[in-house]
This record gives sequence, structure tokens and C-alpha cells, in this order.
Amino acid sequence: MAPARVTSTREAADWWRDAVIYQVYPRSFADSNGDGTGDLEGIRQRLPYLRDLGVDAVWLSPFYASPQADGGYDVADYRAVDPMFGNLLDADALIRDAHALDLRIIVDLVPNHSSDQHEWFRRAVAEGPGSPLRERYHFHPGKGEDGGLPPNDWESIFGGPAWTRLPDGEWYLHLFAPEQPDLNWEHPAVADEFRSILRFWLDMGVDGFRIDVAHGMVKAEGLPDLGGSDQLKLLGTDAMPFFDQDGVHDIYRAWRLILNEYDRDRIFVAEAWTPTVERTANYVRPDELHQAFNFQYLGAPWDAAELRAIIDSSLDAMRPVGAPATWVLSNHDVTRHATRYANPPGLGTQIRTPGDRALGLRRARAATLLMLALPGSAYIYQGEELGLPDVTDLPDDLRQDPSFFRAQGQDGFRDGCRVPIPWTREGSSYGFGDGGSWLPQPAGWGELSVEAQTGVAGSTLELYRTALAVRREQPGLGDGTDVVWHDEVPTGTLRFGRSGFACTVNTTGSAVRIATPGRVLLASSPVTAGGDEFELPADTAVWWEV
Ligand code: NOJ
Repeated sequence: MAPARVTSTREAADWWRDAVIYQVYPRSFADSNGDGTGDLEGIRQRLPYLRDLGVDAVWLSPFYASPQADGGYDVADYRAVDPMFGNLLDADALIRDAHALDLRIIVDLVPNHSSDQHEWFRRAVAEGPGSPLRERYHFHPGKGEDGGLPPNDWESIFGGPAWTRLPDGEWYLHLFAPEQPDLNWEHPAVADEFRSILRFWLDMGVDGFRIDVAHGMVKAEGLPDLGGSDQLKLLGTDAMPFFDQDGVHDIYRAWRLILNEYDRDRIFVAEAWTPTVERTANYVRPDELHQAFNFQYLGAPWDAAELRAIIDSSLDAMRPVGAPATWVLSNHDVTRHATRYANPPGLGTQIRTPGDRALGLRRARAATLLMLALPGSAYIYQGEELGLPDVTDLPDDLRQDPSFFRAQGQDGFRDGCRVPIPWTREGSSYGFGDGGSWLPQPAGWGELSVEAQTGVAGSTLELYRTALAVRREQPGLGDGTDVVWHDEVPTGTLRFGRSGFACTVNTTGSAVRIATPGRVLLASSPVTAGGDEFELPADTAVWWEV
């Protein structure tokens, strides 16, 4: 039985400041029609699960018309639902039902690039050099004899040159796959079109937008050469002439004015990979966006000192602009944190080895309690509440991540976190649907299912449910912009809190004795607390009422 929802005391317009937002990857969440692919109706049917889990909002990765060259981040029509996911009526029903359950819906907006199957690009290609439609993208003649060399030395984030040459001799820019041509945001028609797309979805009733590659739309004047650099990786933080240019902020100021015409409680979330958290804070100034993902936090190793440093710098960076910090451990682009923490540190966010699964899960559960105790908004990626590991042994011929193919299998393992999630112990695709699943689920996946974990004391699902219920009920959890650290704790451990609440974390591989802060509210692994001191087990986090 799910705990009753407690209405937050926060003003409704400020709901997002401490919201827990659940990311759904539509292909892999729930398949209502048995075609092996998740869909909007499947999500709609599972909304009560999300409400009972205790999240505030659902962010849907793209479900628009798309050839799926990059899992839907290649949009052919921004106002249409891809038939694989349903249609606009399904989207409408999903939004309405979510609202009836007190859940908000955030959709993904992909403004940096379209699909090469978008009408603008297809016509631009067909019309040939000199077509005014080519000005809406970055078409340029090449360098060298016969223009046979790309216009500059930029590389695609997915590997290989960031330019592709057409048979007519011109080159076009694509920071990601060749099927994802970059739009030219200097062109007024591009800006107009996206303002219209925003209104389309706002009129449909969505509560906000997650902005894909929010740091990418404006390129440095003249598209200057980089002059050699390491290949930029997904979520990379190097300064680049095609990322984090100051001009991008003009776009967001204009967008914010549109949002402000609607109810005051709708939000923008930036996916902005910037060199520093201070640069990230620029995106969430009061007249721009509301939140930005904290990829510095996502990339942190399981180490108390490093976690504390990133928590402090994140809070420090956000405070001057008045935005809440955000916290995220997993998403559809990185190896799930249960597997990242199962491996040695320093392997990055795309890992192909399962590591020590028990250790990874233990740390992942502790990391979740740490994250949910911090002030600000937290993001949960579908399946992490089941403690799912990444699927590291997918056969190469079933992989779909475009970067896997562009990097000749040296990179691009994002399919491993996109395997459809298990709902039931048995059955075709463990309850994902009646027709198998577009990526194979590992044997034994059923033991991790929602069915197998529901009502089981100590299961990861029940840990999340309880944590989210306590977070709602405990005054001040998630609020504010500060944490107060207690420095009298052993190396490798953390203790922080606020009035009435404390969180202790042990990132070392062994138990440590620390002073008992109060009464245990919740622990990521079993603890026995009595007396002035208690033993905090290895890789464990505990919430306390003090
Ligand atoms: C970031 C998205 O999260 C990722 O999945 C996608 O491949 C790139 N942006 C390009 O759109």
C-alpha cells in the first residue's frame, strides 16, 4: 500500500524547486500493443505506479516522428507523435491522466538539430546549392582542391568528422550523427519555428521542457578550427567553439517570455554540458531556464571527499542566481549507476564491464539516499528504483546506439541502460509487453521486477518508495540552498543535515563507528543503532530524525 501523498507546503508555482522528476525512456518503459516497443499508452497505464512511487513529475524522452537514428533525438516532425509510440490523442490522454493523478509532464525539446528526414532538410538537399532552405542549416563549401576537405576540423560527438558531403559538393554540419544536421540559429525562421513548437506543446498542457543540447545552438562566429583536440565525449566538459557560447542565452530569455505567458508553474530544464558549474548557472538566471542537469555530480566517484566538494560547488554556483541545485545519478546516456559504482573509478560514464554487482547495488542504494537528502531537485531514471544494472553483454549486432557504430565499437554503449524494464516475474518480456522487447532482457530480469520487489522489506523498490514518502513528509527535506556539514566524522564518511534531520554516509569499504545522531528514519542497508555510538556499515547511507 503506497503512503498517502502529502501536499507540499510550497507554493504550487515553485513545485520544481524540490521536485523529484522521473525520466521515462518511452521505447523501454511499457509496451501496450505487443509490438516489442514501449508506447505512450503503456506509459499512461503505468502512471499510477509512478504516482505511488512518489515522484512529482515525469520527463519523457522524445516520442516525436523520427527515423530513430539516435533513439528519437533525430526529430522529423516536432508536432507529431511517431506511430511507434501512438498519436497526438494518446499524448493528450497521457497528459490529462497524469494531471488527474497530480503528476506533471515534461517533454523533451531537441532544438540543436533536426532529423535529416525533416521536411526542411529534405527540401534543402533536393533544391541544391543556393536554396534558401540551406540557410536554415550549416551548409558550406569544403576546403582544399575541389572542396574535398570539410569546412573545418570539428569532430562529431559520436565519432568521425562533424561534416558530411552531399553529392552536389556542399558539406553540412552535424555535431552528432550525419542523420542529425545542426540547425542554424542565426536564421530567423529557425527561432520562429521553435517558438511556435513551444506554444504547440504548452497548449497541449505540458508542464515543461527538457532542452536537449541546450548549450549547442549558437556556434562561434566563423566556425573556427579547433586546431586539434581530444575527441569530445557525450557529456564532455571541454570548452568548444560550438558549445556554451554566450549568444545562446538570448534564445532562453526569449523562450522564458513565452513560458511566462502561460501559468507560472511551467519549467525549462537545460541539458547543458559546460566546463564548470558556474557556467551551468548562467543557464538558470532568473530570466532564463529553471533547472540545469548537474553532470559534475553524475560523474563523481563514490568517494566522500569528492562528493562533498561537488555538492558544495554545486550549491555555491546556484545560490547567486537563485536556482535550485539538481542531482542526477543515471539517465539514458550513461551506464546505470549501479554498474558504474560496481567498477573501479576513472572509467567514465560508458562502461562495458559488469564489475562487482553486489557492491555496485549497495553503493547505488546509498548514493540514492544521499542524493534525495540534498537540497534541490532530483532526477530518477526508469529502472533505477529496481536497482537495475546496465546490460553490458548485449550482442553487437543488436546494438542501436549510433556512436557505437561510428566509433567502431570502442564507444557508445548507451543501449545497455535502455533495455526494457521488468514489471513481472514471468511472462513475455517480464511484463514489459506481450510481444518481446526491442532489446533482449537478461535471464533473471524477472527477479528484479516491480512484482518481485513490491512489498518486500529492504528491496530497492521499497527503499525508493519509503525515501520519497519520507522526503515529502519530513519538513524541509529537499528545501533550501545549503547543507550543514559535521566535520567530526571519520575520513571517508559524511554527515550533514538541517534542523531536525541528518544524513550519514560511509563510502569506505568497511564499517566505521560514529556518534549516533538520533532516531533512524531509513537506511540503505541494515543498521543497528542504540547508544551514543553506532556502527555505520560499509557503503551505506542512513537518514536520521534528530
Ligand atoms: C543528448 C541526448 O540525451 C542524447 O541521447 C542524444 O544522443 C544527444 N543529446 C543528441 O541529441
